[in-house]
Amino acid sequence: MDKDNRHATTSFPPARILGIETSCDETAAAIVENGRALLSSVVTSQIDLHAKYGGVFPEVASRQHILTIYGVVEQALQQAHMSLKDIDAIAVTRGPGLAGSLVVGVNYAKGLALAEGLPLIGVNHLEGHIYSAWVYPVDVVEPPPAPRFPLLALLISGGHSELNLMYDHLTYEHLGATLDDAAGEAFDKVARLLGLPYPGGPAIQKAAINGNPHAFNFPRARLEGSWNFSFSGLKTAVLRVVRQFEAKKQELPVEDLAASFQAAVVDVLVTKTFQAARKYKAKEILVAGGVSANRAVRTAFLEQNEFPVHIPALSLCTDNAAMIAAAGYFRYALGKHDSLDMDVLPTWPLLPIEGRGSA
Ligand code: KG4
Ligand code: ZN
Repeated sequence: MDKDNRHATTSFPPARILGIETSCDETAAAIVENGRALLSSVVTSQIDLHAKYGGVFPEVASRQHILTIYGVVEQALQQAHMSLKDIDAIAVTRGPGLAGSLVVGVNYAKGLALAEGLPLIGVNHLEGHIYSAWVYPVDVVEPPPAPRFPLLALLISGGHSELNLMYDHLTYEHLGATLDDAAGEAFDKVARLLGLPYPGGPAIQKAAINGNPHAFNFPRARLEGSWNFSFSGLKTAVLRVVRQFEAKKQELPVEDLAASFQAAVVDVLVTKTFQAARKYKAKEILVAGGVSANRAVRTAFLEQNEFPVHIPALSLCTDNAAMIAAAGYFRYALGKHDSLDMDVLPTWPLLPIEGRGSA
């Protein structure tokens, strides 16, 4: 395959990156050209294995990664009609995530890098989610415009809810984060209260379709004066209603509860993100992470015309390796390579604590 420059990113060198992601319960590999054009992406989920535990069981997860990683990487190369000789660098999720799961991906990436003499690039999973918004399928007629800086990035996943201002590639100012449950965690916990399966986000979205979002007026924690989020009060409010129905031995109005809960989450996310975008004079907004797959979230952000909004394709919202390859490309282009003694960082924040500002 020719290394043409059709998908080149302005002023960065052309490169094809193999990304590997094993931070939680997905084993994934992908090849991305120039940080944007998706040549292949393979994701195998362990959801069925963990569903009976109601969450991810760490040891089961790492051992499953060991079983699947070789096949997943091979498939990603095959899908792109490539061999490792066509790859310029190996990017792998270094953290945050489950230590045992991260170790499988990082060691596999080290093996490939050593064998092929390729640079190794450790990627922060949260940075990966943000960069998923740069990725588009290689066969599109017209590549979509890349997000423009300064950019307000809302990251809403199972483990994190963060607002960050991006001034340039890999350059962030932390504005706020959740004080308790992450947005996805709130979906998962409320789903459990409503007797819905894990993962809760898709289950709540489905139940909410036929529900009335105004049936229950759940609290919206706006935390005025800060860019932080809090979802635990909302979860407790749902619990209170569930208990009331149980005490009266009445059937739980699951659809109305799901729709009302979802509406409260969307309301808070949209309101705070737009407030921050105005205050910091962001040019555009980016929404990423598992919860950005939520239809109500996507509609709420996309239906306004105050700011251009970038949201990844549905398949790139939840964990995948294309986002790791994309973020890895920009690290590679900026010379941020790692050595073969790189350790995993299970609690790695996107920004060091001292880099965090206040509202
Ligand atoms: O980004 P992700 O795949 O993994 C983490 O890095 O955490 O996010 C997973 C989270 C889960 O909490 C899941 O319930 C939530 O994203 N999620 C959704 C939807 N799809 C996944 N939440 C709301 N609506 C969805 N459609
Ligand atoms: Zn994730």
